[in-house]
Amino acid sequence: MIASLNPLEVLFDHGPDNCPLPEQIRTLYGGGFGFNGPTLYANFVQSIDGVVSLSSVRSPAPAISGHSAADRFVMALLRSCADAVLVGAGTMRDTAEPWTASSVFPALSSSFARLRNKLGKPADPQLILLTASGKINVNHPALRAGATVLTTAAGARRLGSSLPSGCRLHVLSGEHAIDMTKALDLVRSQGLQYVLSEAGPNITGQLVQAGLLDELFLTIAPVLAGGGKGDASGLLEGVRILPDRRESRELVSIRRSGSYLFLRYGSRTTEDGRGPSA
Ligand SMILES: NC(=O)c1ccc[n+]([C@@H]2O[C@H](COP(=O)([O-])OP(=O)(O)OC[C@H]3O[C@@H](n4cnc5c(N)ncnc54)[C@H](OP(=O)(O)O)[C@@H]3O)[C@@H](O)[C@H]2O)c1
Repeated sequence: MIASLNPLEVLFDHGPDNCPLPEQIRTLYGGGFGFNGPTLYANFVQSIDGVVSLSSVRSPAPAISGHSAADRFVMALLRSCADAVLVGAGTMRDTAEPWTASSVFPALSSSFARLRNKLGKPADPQLILLTASGKINVNHPALRAGATVLTTAAGARRLGSSLPSGCRLHVLSGEHAIDMTKALDLVRSQGLQYVLSEAGPNITGQLVQAGLLDELFLTIAPVLAGGGKGDASGLLEGVRILPDRRESRELVSIRRSGSYLFLRYGSRTTEDGRGPSA
């Protein structure tokens, strides 16, 4: 896979450079990387026409990205810097893969392992799974490897004692949905400060609505997805933003690999992007 990956071309970058990247990763990323303190960051790949998920496609992200090596490299880098990866049951139902750097970019697993070691992090990020219903496949490999499951009282009743022994179950208040702020507070209280959300549009919508999402990494794949009525979704579901308010975001970096674009958006800004909004 490394053979098919050239260094990303940096078109613009004013992100921090405080992450001890091994040389090979720094070269392939086209320079430094880092965060300004504890961060909740999401990563998505979307089509040119703004589609991240198609209900008619079982695993839409690889279908949209075309299994791009550059996209998989960025996913691996983002996972390597995370204390925890957050997913919803909707995303877990779509894949049997664990949310680790080595699973998404095996050819560089020793470099990513070195990075985690330098960051003082364990081999893999902690998986945080959100399910209100508790209707999950308890034999999923990522659960068998040990995960933290956040659910409602009803979800916990359904799960009973069926989770693998390495999992921790937390019941949060809320009948049909747990409160995202309380969920994130619980995650952070466990010392997990750098949290990557690989959840789908449903949870991402709630994170944005609650004002919790600090950064967004967005890959634009050079493909049109289309989709029938109600089939395709963009990266936020179930949340109304415009025209009630504007959620402007600061552009932090732009990278390119062939016709793929890798965008990084940071904190909220004023409309002209020159400073933080009130
Ligand atoms: N293109 C990309 O980069 C990308 C990235 C991520 C995901 N995806 C795709 O997006 C699709 C999944 O979308 P999605 O929006 O359904 O995924 P999701 O947000 O990861 O999961 C939704 C599920 O999470 C649980 N949930 C949501 N809010 C909750 C709350 N407040 N409290 C407790 N549990 C809560 C519910 O599970 P229960 O039903 O168990 O209650 C809900 O059905 C998949 O096809 C996936 O592959 C694409």
